Amino acid sequence: SPEFRVFPTAEATAEAVAAYLAEQLASTPAMRLGLATGNTFVPIYAALVELYKAGGFSFARTESFNLDEYIGLPPGHPASFAAYMQQHLFSQVDLPEGRGHLPGVLGDVAAACTAYEAAISAGGGIDLQLLGIGRNGHIGFNEPGSAFDSRAREVALTASTREANKGDFPPGESVPPAAVTMGIGTILEARQIVLVAIGASKIEALDAAFRQAPSPDCPASALQAHPNVIVFADSAAIPNG
Ligand code: GLP
Repeated sequence: SPEFRVFPTAEATAEAVAAYLAEQLASTPAMRLGLATGNTFVPIYAALVELYKAGGFSFARTESFNLDEYIGLPPGHPASFAAYMQQHLFSQVDLPEGRGHLPGVLGDVAAACTAYEAAISAGGGIDLQLLGIGRNGHIGFNEPGSAFDSRAREVALTASTREANKGDFPPGESVPPAAVTMGIGTILEARQIVLVAIGASKIEALDAAFRQAPSPDCPASALQAHPNVIVFADSAAIPNG
C-alpha cells in the first residue's frame, strides 16, 4: 500500500511535492520524469520553479513525458497541455528544447501512440511519474473501465471529465471529446509514482483508489499493485480526515 504524506493546506502540500521533486532532481540529474497537468499541478510547478531559481538542481539532463493531450485543438491553443507545460514549467527552467515530450495528437494518432511508447522505453522508461486524480478516479485520461494493462491510445472523455475541465477553455468553447493518454500499463511501469490529491472533491476518488479492492471502475486503484507509490494530499482530500 502507498505511503501517504498529508498536509494541513493545499499550499503546504504543493510545497512538499515541489521540495520532494527538487530533492530527486538534485540526486538524479538525468532523471526521466513523467509529468501531469491539471489545476493540482499549477502551484506545484510554481513552487518547483522558485526552488529551481534558488539553485541546487537543473533540468539540463532531464527528459520528460507528459501523460496526455487533447485531440483536435489547434497547435498552441491555450487549453492544450502543451501550452500549459510551456507556461508553467518548460519556459521557466533549463530543460533543453525538444526534451519535454507530449503525446502526438496530429495525423495518425495510433502511430503516434506507438512512437510515444517506444520513446519512453528506448531511454529506459520513466523514473518518476507524477499523477493527479480525476473526480471519477481517472489517471491521465484513463477513464473508468480502462484496462489495467492499457497502453498509450486515443480515448473518449466522459461527460463529467469534460465538465470538470470546462474552466480551462475560453467561454463558449467546448472541451474536446477525445484525447491521447498513456495507458494504465504504461503508468505502472514507472519506477516511482507520486500522486497528488487536493481538496474535498477528491475524497471519493482517493477512497476508491486506495481503500477499496482494485477495480477498473476506479482506474487509480490499479496503483495498489505498484510497489513504490507516494500519495501527497491535503487533509481535505483524505476520507474521514
Ligand atoms: C485532468 C487530467 C489528469 C488530472 C485530472 C485532475 O483532466 N487529464 O491528468 O490529474 O484531470 O485534474 P485537476 O488537478 O484539475 O483536478
